[in-house]
Amino acid sequence: MGAAAGAVALSGCASEGSTGEALRSDRPLPEPFRVPLPIPPVKRPVRRDATTDWYEIVQRQADVEMLPGVRTRILGYDGVFPGPTVESRTGRRTVVRHSNQTDVPTVVHLHGGHTPAEHDGWPTDLVLPQNNAAHHHDHHPGHVTRGRRDYVYPITQPAATLWYHDHRMDFTGPQVYRGLAGFHLIRDDVEDALSLPGGDREIPLMIADRAFDADGALKYPAMAHDDFVEGVLGDVVLVNGAPWPELEVDAARYRFRILNASNARRYQLTLDQGATFVQIGSDAGLLAAPIEHTAVTIAQAERFDVIVDFSAYRPGQVITMRNALGSAGTGQVMRFRVARKARDDSVIPTQLADVEPLRRGTVERQFAFSRGTVPDGLGGQRKGWVVNGKPFDPSRVDATPRLGDVEIWTLSTDLHHPVHIHLSPFQVLSRNGRPPGDLDAGWKDTVDLRPAETVEVAVRFTDYRGRFLLHCHNLEHEDMTMMSTFETT
Ligand code: C2O
Ligand code: CU
Ligand code: CU
Repeated sequence: MGAAAGAVALSGCASEGSTGEALRSDRPLPEPFRVPLPIPPVKRPVRRDATTDWYEIVQRQADVEMLPGVRTRILGYDGVFPGPTVESRTGRRTVVRHSNQTDVPTVVHLHGGHTPAEHDGWPTDLVLPQNNAAHHHDHHPGHVTRGRRDYVYPITQPAATLWYHDHRMDFTGPQVYRGLAGFHLIRDDVEDALSLPGGDREIPLMIADRAFDADGALKYPAMAHDDFVEGVLGDVVLVNGAPWPELEVDAARYRFRILNASNARRYQLTLDQGATFVQIGSDAGLLAAPIEHTAVTIAQAERFDVIVDFSAYRPGQVITMRNALGSAGTGQVMRFRVARKARDDSVIPTQLADVEPLRRGTVERQFAFSRGTVPDGLGGQRKGWVVNGKPFDPSRVDATPRLGDVEIWTLSTDLHHPVHIHLSPFQVLSRNGRPPGDLDAGWKDTVDLRPAETVEVAVRFTDYRGRFLLHCHNLEHEDMTMMSTFETT
């Protein structure tokens, strides 16, 4: 994978099914399965009226206990990682006021949101820190505000597991790594009618790898460090911010909304003791019908909404979620401990939601994701990543799809590049000329492409005219210019 020889020797296996370089922690790793799974707090609106729910989130530094016995400084939404979970209802507008009390400019993007361009988190639409007058004449023109701004989300889309995260130009990798990521769930009547597991049995799982310094600080390479152009892989697997946590469960069905919020790591999730994942939803909403998987391969930014049935297990039994692509520590994710027998009224319906298959489109476009030479910001050149041979330029438009048309986009890669399209979801039509795999089902907004793959997707943009992004969701690749702009007309 072009990894530097020294790094390979250091880490044993640098790639683990991912394009990236392993970063090793400088302190002993914690024992797995010793801490309980944290559940991110659910945000309460500060106000509701007939049409709108209003929220306020403060972005700030905080020192939190991620590893037992030591404090780690994060940048968190409300000072926590993951950030608080926002819950919206289809048909009700959500307005989130974000205040930036950090020391860096930020940008908020609602990943998977069907959002007008103005509120989508364009990488140069910065929110400057409230208390830092020194910042800053940025060389990228954008709609810059100071201190705070309101992000307005119409929320006309169906129930889905979205997430929000930082999207600042050139700094998405480090700012997400420091903690700027949270869930944003959308609920609707279709889903409510299904009697899926709910309440304490509906749990979001944000999986993210990190490495730590000797004193417990998050370790991230200096920008422009050529060894990490491939992406940053940590050696500690966090779920909801805790290392290899354990969740006590009833012997009952659970719904897990699994998100891979890692910068560069892919996972192949498995369960032992014969447990399986029954997938009910993908990135952008419910599937037409459930699909059972013994393993779920999840690339960065993808979501798998699954049901795991613990009813066959006895109290005291443990079921481990592993990562078949990892080794040693990164080969494990978390553990479930069955605590008690319990009543369960949930069902796994045989039909879930109507998923309209997108027909063949009229317009075809190709997007090739590959290594390239890109500007280093200092007048020179550096190694980076390009789309169709070009580094990202916020003033250039690469495609102009018309609202309402179905287009066929052919995505191709040299290495692993999970491709994400803003504004509207898509459907996978083919992989390497063959039918899509069983993990490609439903409405997607991010698709996992492995080295030298070609995937065709059908996409139909609707409602909002403006400039939106298409990019690789390996965050180091994104920061090293692997983005492209389309403008809907
Ligand atoms: Cu999750 Cu453009 O990002
Ligand atoms: Cu997005
Ligand atoms: Cu990439």
